[in-house]
Parts: sequence; C-alpha cells; structure tokens
Amino acid sequence: MTSTEAVKSVLGVIHAKRNGQTVGNDDLATVVLDYTAGRIADYQMAALLATVACTGLTHAETVALTRAYVSSGSTLNLSTQGKRVVDKHSTGGVGDKVSLFVVPVVAACGVPVAKLSGQGLDFMGGTIDKLSSISGLRMDLGTDEVVDVLTRTGMVVSGQSDDLVPGDRATYALRDVTGTVDSLPLIAASIMSKKIAIGTQGVVLDVKYGPGAVIGSVEEARELAVLMLRIGHEVGLPARAVLSDMRQPLGYAVGNSLEVAEALRALRGEWIPRYSELCETIARLMLQLGRPELDVAAATVQVKEAIASGRALAKFREWAEEQGGDVSQIDDPSTLPSAPHAATVRATHDGWVAGIDARTIGSAAARLGAGRFSYEQQIDHGAGLVLGRQVGERVQAGDVLAELYGSAENLESIVVTVASAFHVEDHEPDLEPVVSAILGGGWPDGDAEQGDESENDGSGNPSPWW
Ligand code: URA
Repeated sequence: MTSTEAVKSVLGVIHAKRNGQTVGNDDLATVVLDYTAGRIADYQMAALLATVACTGLTHAETVALTRAYVSSGSTLNLSTQGKRVVDKHSTGGVGDKVSLFVVPVVAACGVPVAKLSGQGLDFMGGTIDKLSSISGLRMDLGTDEVVDVLTRTGMVVSGQSDDLVPGDRATYALRDVTGTVDSLPLIAASIMSKKIAIGTQGVVLDVKYGPGAVIGSVEEARELAVLMLRIGHEVGLPARAVLSDMRQPLGYAVGNSLEVAEALRALRGEWIPRYSELCETIARLMLQLGRPELDVAAATVQVKEAIASGRALAKFREWAEEQGGDVSQIDDPSTLPSAPHAATVRATHDGWVAGIDARTIGSAAARLGAGRFSYEQQIDHGAGLVLGRQVGERVQAGDVLAELYGSAENLESIVVTVASAFHVEDHEPDLEPVVSAILGGGWPDGDAEQGDESENDGSGNPSPWW
C-alpha cells in the first residue's frame, strides 16, 4: 500500500534531480526503504530510476544510495571466520559464468568466499539463474545460513533476500524491466551494496565492456571501475578491478544449465579459451586479496593446482550439497535441465570467424527462454545456445556455428538471427586479449597491464589511487 508521505518524498527526489540539485543522504535512504516496504509504487520508483539514468548521481549521492541499499537489510560480520573472506562480482556479460568457476577454485585454495549474486539482467544471464539450474540448490539463504554454509564449506553463494540488501533486490528487478540497467551509479551502488552487506574483506570486480556487456566502451568501464574502487576505499573494503573484453560471448555456452555444464567442464580441467584465462586471472587476484603474502606467480600456481588436482570441482560439489543441490547433476551434467527442441546454424562458406555479435547472441538466448522480459516470467533453465566457434577460429562451409535449444515455436526465427551474428571473413582477424587492464592494488597510474604486476607489494591493502 503506497503512503502519501512516501510518494511526496520520491516525487521530491525526482524533481530535485531534474532541476540539477543534489539529493541528501537521508532522502535517498528514505526512498529506498519506502520502496522496499511497498510504500512507493513501481511506476514511481521507475520514474526515479529513469531520471537517475538520464541525470546521473554525484559521487556523494552514489555512496548514499549504496549505503541506503546496505541498510535496507542486515549486514554480516565474517571476522569470526579467522581468515580474510573474499568475493567477486561482475557487471554482467553474455556467457559470463566466471563465478561458477572461480568461487570453488579460490575456496579450494583455502581462502573463504562469500558471494551475494543477482538474477539475469536484460540480455545477460545472472549467477542465481544459472545455479538454479541445479535441482534443489537454494539461492535464498538467510543471514545465519550464509554464515553456516561458509563456515562448513569455505564458500557460499546466495541471492539478495528479505535479510540481505532487499532494497537492491527490489530495485534490481525493476531496473531489469525498465531499461535502466546501464546507469553507472545504479550499477555501482547495486554491486557495492551487496559486497558491503555480506561483510567480505576483499573483492575483485570484473568490469565488462563491449556489445556483450551493459557497458559499451573500455573508457566507460574504467570510469565504473574507478567509481566502485572509490566506494570500496571509502567504506574500507579492499578491491581490485579487471576490465574484460566482451566483444564476443565468454566461452561457448550461453544459457543457464548450458553454462553450468561448461563451467563444470572447466573445473574438470578443460581449457576454454578466454573463459579459462579470465577465470584464472580473477581467481588469483582473489587469492592475493585473501592471502596477501602470495605474489602473482605463487598465487597462479595455487589456482592451477586447485583445478588440476580436482579439489576445486570437489569443493563445488561439497558446497552444492550443503545448499541442497542434487549433486548427481554435477557428477553427470547431461542430467541438467535441457530444452525439448534443438536447431543448428552452419557456416555458409570457409574462412575465419572475424566477429560474433555478443548482444545479438545474448538477446537470442533470452528469446529462446533463458532470460526474462517481465518480472513474473519463468525462465527455461535448459534454453540457450552453444557456439561452435569463437572469434579467430577457422571454419569450413557446413561447420556448426551454433546449436540452439528452446521451445519449438520460436526456434526457426531465432536461427536466422543467430546466423546474422556471425561474421566469417577470408583472413585471420586480430584478437583483443580478454583482460585489458587490472586496476587497484596500489599502482600509481591505476592502469597496470597483467604483465606489470611484479610491482605488487604483497601487502594486500591496496592504496587508494585512480
Ligand atoms: N550486477 C549487479 O549486482 N548489479 C548491477 O547493476 C549489475 C550487475
């Protein structure tokens, strides 16, 4: 039930933003609390989000919104774990299944990981939807359960809940269906509030850019990364950021259970170009936040060893069982949900794959049933597509470019769309590296490339700079 006072306050904030005024901390906190409690209607909050998406927020307002989300629920104190607990978060991208791989890898290296994730946004899937492909796996843990699972297994993944950042949960769902997912301050507040509420002592931010991400350009990705690093600094949360290229989907699988199956293949030791590389970079940055004495080489060795030994896969299985998941699906991923119908896109001529339009692929996966177009929509966990090639790979006429999985009615029209996403040319294309920069950790220019990381002082307490 909406309330007159609450409506007045949200309209006041909308007018203030439209008139170029700065909004006070208390005003933003009130609006978030009122919306979470149902005292403001969706259409009023949607109007505010649209205003913010157009006008932006000042840095102080972004921090205030972050704090408002945090204080809409409880916060955890994980200092009792006796070790630094770390976390990672991505701004989202097509085929982004990084969390499924890096969380168990880092936990298997002895650094606890607590992760609060979200559902899919727009044309990109979300970790919660992906993991929900595993029957029984609970993604709605309360605060006590989060701590219990973490204590028992060294890792925990859950969604926002009535307890944890409910303000972000409510706003996030509304942003998804109101065209407001790509506002930098809204993304920063959404992500950083989850990281702060869960109480970790270090976070790696995977800031993605390109057509397969919400952020289009590397410049904007850098701006968002710096914004989140600054928030981290202001609240005392050590953070690193990776800028990663999403001009093509990450890995081959796009769609919930298909991505779980691909992540499990990587955990079994299969090298999946670009995906495995990005995961190993993020995992070792997380490891270094948790165990600052490790330099780049030592942390990398530990990450590789956790995968090769099977400990990371065993950790994933142990954790999934703890959260109620059916581990037989982990042992045999062919039993994960699958869609009833399939169709194939084939190359019409020989050449090299010079480009794959990641946004078209993400939208196609959503249309196949892997994503939502309205609040209430149920996703089809088995729907999506598996690419036959990545950019830079050779292809011959008749080779499979993509396998599509979905329901029969719309499959054929989506085949045409997916075919149009592939650009096959007669010369080998130049490939951009998947990681274009790593920020944070005390580099004076905030712009170190991977190879320059010998400068890491090992303190694990990144100094503020950007
Ligand atoms: N992930 C989040 O949690 N929030 C966003 O806004 C984008 C990605």
